[in-house]
Amino acid sequence: MLKQRILLCVTGGIAAYKAIDLASRLHKAGYQIRTILSEDALHFVSKINFEAITHSSVHTSLWEDEDPIPHISLADWADLIVVAPATANTIAKAAHGLADNLLTATLLAHTKPILWIPAMNVNMYHNSITQTNMDLLKERGHYLLDPSVGMLACAYEGKGKYPPNAEILYAIRTYLTHSRDLIGKKVMVTAGATIEHIDPMRMITNRSSGKMGISLARALALRGAEVTLVYGSVSEEIPYYLAETIYTPSVDEMHDAVIREAKTKDWIIMCAAVSDFKPALPQTKKIKKSEELDLNLVSTPDILFELGANKKASQLLIGFAAETQDIVEYAKQKLKKKNLDLIVANSLENAGKETNSIILIDSSGELAKLEGNKFDLAHQIIDTVINI
Ligand code: CTP
Repeated sequence: MLKQRILLCVTGGIAAYKAIDLASRLHKAGYQIRTILSEDALHFVSKINFEAITHSSVHTSLWEDEDPIPHISLADWADLIVVAPATANTIAKAAHGLADNLLTATLLAHTKPILWIPAMNVNMYHNSITQTNMDLLKERGHYLLDPSVGMLACAYEGKGKYPPNAEILYAIRTYLTHSRDLIGKKVMVTAGATIEHIDPMRMITNRSSGKMGISLARALALRGAEVTLVYGSVSEEIPYYLAETIYTPSVDEMHDAVIREAKTKDWIIMCAAVSDFKPALPQTKKIKKSEELDLNLVSTPDILFELGANKKASQLLIGFAAETQDIVEYAKQKLKKKNLDLIVANSLENAGKETNSIILIDSSGELAKLEGNKFDLAHQIIDTVINI
């Protein structure tokens, strides 16, 4: 398969050194990379950093390049241009069509949407001029990954931080194949396992890392949806750019949050591994092993069943079925019983793994059998939901 071509454009912000790690990750992930460094970026990083890591050409000038028209050749070559980090200055120039150096001229000559990774001082970021310039880029169909919040190099605390490169890679994977096609959609996703305490030491929980649910939340948000993630115990980093995150360790807390939030959502995707049982009387003191153990369990509420019973005509309800045997049969029963629009059936074997193999089922029967990385599967599930 032809390698996808990423043109990495690095501008002159203190986070420029983080783009070296981004280039390395892209190279290891199998992308073909070329790099443009702005004149200001050269104060922070050097050509050799990127040449050695990408094994490919690094360009810095319109006038000193082997190619007589480097801005056109590079713009045409790229499947996706990523500006990381993007300074307020380059954002302003691009928003107004300035082409005063190789980097900005290439951006202007590119005919597809560009992925921007703004990173700067919090006051520069919140300045209405920068905000208006970013809005202009968005209006023209460009993709902007929000900066994260934290301690900045300038010693200010706030929004403007260069995001984790792992998140930039997810954004690149998304925009090579999809666009922000879910702008205006309000979606709730649940993820991870609930925890029910027997005593302060012991608990009843389910096997789930939360990877599939978090992948869905991430893919939805990158495609422009307003995402509420309701989550229990997870072992995966939660994307910092979700609209809302609600931690609900127990079934009752997850139940209350989901039922409350459901009223305003267009899609609800119940991916969480919810415990079906809880101790009737959780103990407040640790049970000693010398004591007789009476594990009296009672049923928990079936959240998805309740959502299905009260579903609005405009809402889409998607459930998961994790099984050890008779996967399709059980999933079909759950689809009907819980009044779902789609059910994603999967084997418990893949809990905690990076990959999954799933079967998508609606009322007409089996739609597709899919296998792969959980993030790619998330996009395929979303593509199916769009077509319901
Ligand atoms: N679910 C839920 N509330 C519960 C149990 C499950 O909302 N108390 C949801 C899960 O999030 C999933 C779907 O229902 O989307 C199916 O969950 P699963 O555990 O596969 O099935 P159960 O309905 O619990 O039935 P069983 O355990 O008998 O397979």
